Amino acid sequence: MKRIIQLTVNGERAEVAVEPNRTLLQVLREDLGLTGTKHGCGLGDCGACTVILDGRPVNSCLVLAVQANGSDVLTIEGLAENGKLHPLQRAFVEKGAIQCGFCSPGMILSAKALLDENPKPTEKEIRMAISGNLCRCTGYQKIVEAIQAVASGEIMQGGDS
Ligand code: FES
Ligand code: FES
Repeated sequence: MKRIIQLTVNGERAEVAVEPNRTLLQVLREDLGLTGTKHGCGLGDCGACTVILDGRPVNSCLVLAVQANGSDVLTIEGLAENGKLHPLQRAFVEKGAIQCGFCSPGMILSAKALLDENPKPTEKEIRMAISGNLCRCTGYQKIVEAIQAVASGEIMQGGDS
Protein backbone atom coordinates (compact mmCIF):
# COMPACT_ATOMS: atom_id res chain seq x y z
CA MET A 1 0.00 0.00 0.00
CA LYS A 2 1.63 3.22 -1.14
CA ARG A 3 1.74 6.32 0.98
CA ILE A 4 2.24 9.87 -0.23
CA ILE A 5 5.23 11.60 1.28
CA GLN A 6 6.42 15.16 0.91
CA LEU A 7 10.06 16.13 0.81
CA THR A 8 11.96 19.29 0.11
CA VAL A 9 14.87 18.17 -2.02
CA ASN A 10 17.55 20.70 -2.87
CA GLY A 11 15.09 23.46 -2.10
CA GLU A 12 12.26 22.09 -4.22
CA ARG A 13 9.10 20.46 -2.97
CA ALA A 14 8.52 16.90 -4.11
CA GLU A 15 5.58 14.61 -3.51
CA VAL A 16 6.09 10.91 -4.04
CA ALA A 17 3.91 7.82 -3.59
CA VAL A 18 6.09 5.19 -1.90
CA GLU A 19 5.78 1.67 -0.60
CA PRO A 20 6.65 1.46 3.09
CA ASN A 21 9.80 -0.59 2.45
CA ARG A 22 11.42 1.81 -0.01
CA THR A 23 14.48 3.64 1.15
CA LEU A 24 15.21 7.32 0.80
CA LEU A 25 18.11 6.29 -1.46
CA GLN A 26 15.75 4.46 -3.82
CA VAL A 27 13.33 7.35 -3.93
CA LEU A 28 16.06 9.87 -4.64
CA ARG A 29 17.63 7.80 -7.40
CA GLU A 30 14.68 6.04 -8.95
CA ASP A 31 11.71 8.32 -8.38
CA LEU A 32 13.39 11.71 -8.47
CA GLY A 33 16.23 10.84 -10.86
CA LEU A 34 18.92 12.19 -8.55
CA THR A 35 21.56 9.62 -9.34
CA GLY A 36 24.41 11.66 -7.87
CA THR A 37 23.65 9.86 -4.62
CA LYS A 38 25.38 6.53 -5.01
CA HIS A 39 24.29 3.03 -4.08
CA GLY A 40 27.31 1.23 -2.69
CA CYS A 41 26.77 -1.44 -0.06
CA GLY A 42 23.12 -0.78 0.74
CA LEU A 43 23.94 -1.76 4.33
CA GLY A 44 25.13 1.41 6.02
CA ASP A 45 28.82 0.55 5.73
CA CYS A 46 30.25 2.64 2.89
CA GLY A 47 28.72 6.13 3.05
CA ALA A 48 28.35 6.40 -0.73
CA CYS A 49 24.65 7.16 -0.24
CA THR A 50 25.21 10.02 2.24
CA VAL A 51 22.80 12.93 1.98
CA ILE A 52 22.08 15.74 4.42
CA LEU A 53 18.71 15.21 6.06
CA ASP A 54 17.44 18.14 8.11
CA GLY A 55 21.01 19.34 8.51
CA ARG A 56 22.57 16.01 9.47
CA PRO A 57 24.48 13.58 7.26
CA VAL A 58 22.74 10.21 7.00
CA ASN A 59 23.17 7.01 5.05
CA SER A 60 20.11 7.26 2.84
CA CYS A 61 20.14 3.49 2.28
CA LEU A 62 19.22 3.09 5.95
CA VAL A 63 16.42 5.66 6.02
CA LEU A 64 12.98 4.56 4.94
CA ALA A 65 11.42 7.13 2.66
CA VAL A 66 8.35 7.31 4.91
CA GLN A 67 10.63 8.24 7.82
CA ALA A 68 11.87 11.20 5.81
CA ASN A 69 8.34 12.53 5.22
CA GLY A 70 8.31 16.29 5.77
CA SER A 71 12.08 16.57 5.78
CA ASP A 72 14.58 18.70 4.02
CA VAL A 73 17.08 16.75 1.93
CA LEU A 74 20.27 18.02 0.34
CA THR A 75 21.95 15.87 -2.29
CA ILE A 76 25.10 16.50 -4.29
CA GLU A 77 22.95 17.97 -7.09
CA GLY A 78 21.91 20.77 -4.74
CA LEU A 79 25.38 22.04 -3.91
CA ALA A 80 26.26 24.09 -6.97
CA GLU A 81 24.72 27.55 -7.06
CA ASN A 82 24.06 29.61 -10.19
CA GLY A 83 26.23 27.29 -12.24
CA LYS A 84 29.18 27.57 -9.83
CA LEU A 85 30.48 24.52 -8.07
CA HIS A 86 30.45 24.57 -4.28
CA PRO A 87 33.94 25.26 -2.87
CA LEU A 88 34.15 21.69 -1.60
CA GLN A 89 33.45 20.38 -5.10
CA ARG A 90 36.14 22.64 -6.54
CA ALA A 91 38.56 21.68 -3.80
CA PHE A 92 38.08 17.97 -4.44
CA VAL A 93 38.86 18.52 -8.11
CA GLU A 94 41.75 20.93 -7.58
CA LYS A 95 43.41 18.89 -4.84
CA GLY A 96 43.11 15.59 -6.67
CA ALA A 97 40.74 14.14 -4.08
CA ILE A 98 38.68 12.43 -6.77
CA GLN A 99 39.75 9.36 -8.64
CA CYS A 100 36.87 7.07 -9.58
CA GLY A 101 34.57 9.53 -7.84
CA PHE A 102 32.15 6.95 -6.53
CA CYS A 103 32.68 8.01 -2.93
CA SER A 104 32.82 11.72 -3.73
CA PRO A 105 29.17 12.80 -3.46
CA GLY A 106 28.80 11.23 -0.03
CA MET A 107 32.24 12.36 1.09
CA ILE A 108 31.55 15.94 0.05
CA LEU A 109 28.20 15.99 1.83
CA SER A 110 29.77 14.63 5.02
CA ALA A 111 32.40 17.36 4.73
CA LYS A 112 29.74 20.00 4.16
CA ALA A 113 27.81 18.91 7.24
CA LEU A 114 31.03 19.13 9.23
CA LEU A 115 31.98 22.60 8.00
CA ASP A 116 28.42 23.89 8.50
CA GLU A 117 28.68 22.95 12.15
CA ASN A 118 32.40 23.43 12.71
CA PRO A 119 33.98 25.76 10.12
CA LYS A 120 37.52 25.34 11.45
CA PRO A 121 37.89 21.64 12.22
CA THR A 122 41.13 19.99 13.19
CA GLU A 123 42.54 17.26 10.96
CA LYS A 124 41.33 14.74 13.52
CA GLU A 125 37.82 16.18 13.39
CA ILE A 126 37.86 16.02 9.58
CA ARG A 127 38.99 12.41 9.63
CA MET A 128 36.30 11.60 12.19
CA ALA A 129 33.60 13.32 10.12
CA ILE A 130 34.45 11.27 7.01
CA SER A 131 35.13 8.05 8.87
CA GLY A 132 31.83 6.60 7.64
CA ASN A 133 32.70 7.30 4.01
CA LEU A 134 34.89 4.64 2.46
CA CYS A 135 37.19 5.45 -0.43
CA ARG A 136 39.05 2.71 -2.24
CA CYS A 137 41.15 5.00 -4.40
CA THR A 138 42.68 8.04 -2.77
CA GLY A 139 44.15 6.96 0.54
CA TYR A 140 42.15 9.82 2.14
CA GLN A 141 45.08 12.27 2.42
CA LYS A 142 44.05 14.37 -0.57
CA ILE A 143 40.45 14.32 0.61
CA VAL A 144 41.53 15.70 3.99
CA GLU A 145 43.63 18.33 2.22
CA ALA A 146 40.69 19.36 0.06
CA ILE A 147 38.48 19.85 3.10
CA GLN A 148 41.27 21.76 4.85
CA ALA A 149 41.62 24.01 1.80
CA VAL A 150 38.00 25.08 2.17
CA ALA A 151 38.19 25.40 5.97
CA SER A 152 41.27 27.62 5.70
CA GLY A 153 39.72 29.83 3.02
CA GLU A 154 42.30 28.81 0.42
CA ILE A 155 39.40 27.75 -1.79
CA MET A 156 36.36 29.95 -1.44
CA GLN A 157 32.90 30.48 -2.83
CA GLY A 158 32.72 32.23 -6.17
CA GLY A 159 35.66 30.72 -8.04
CA ASP A 160 35.52 30.27 -11.77
CA SER A 161 35.53 26.47 -11.88
S1 FES B 1 25.06 2.41 0.19
FE1 FES B 1 24.44 3.32 2.03
S2 FES B 1 26.13 3.07 3.35
FE2 FES B 1 26.72 1.99 1.56
S1 FES C 1 37.69 8.12 -5.45
FE1 FES C 1 37.21 6.05 -5.88
S2 FES C 1 36.21 5.34 -4.08
FE2 FES C 1 36.92 7.31 -3.58
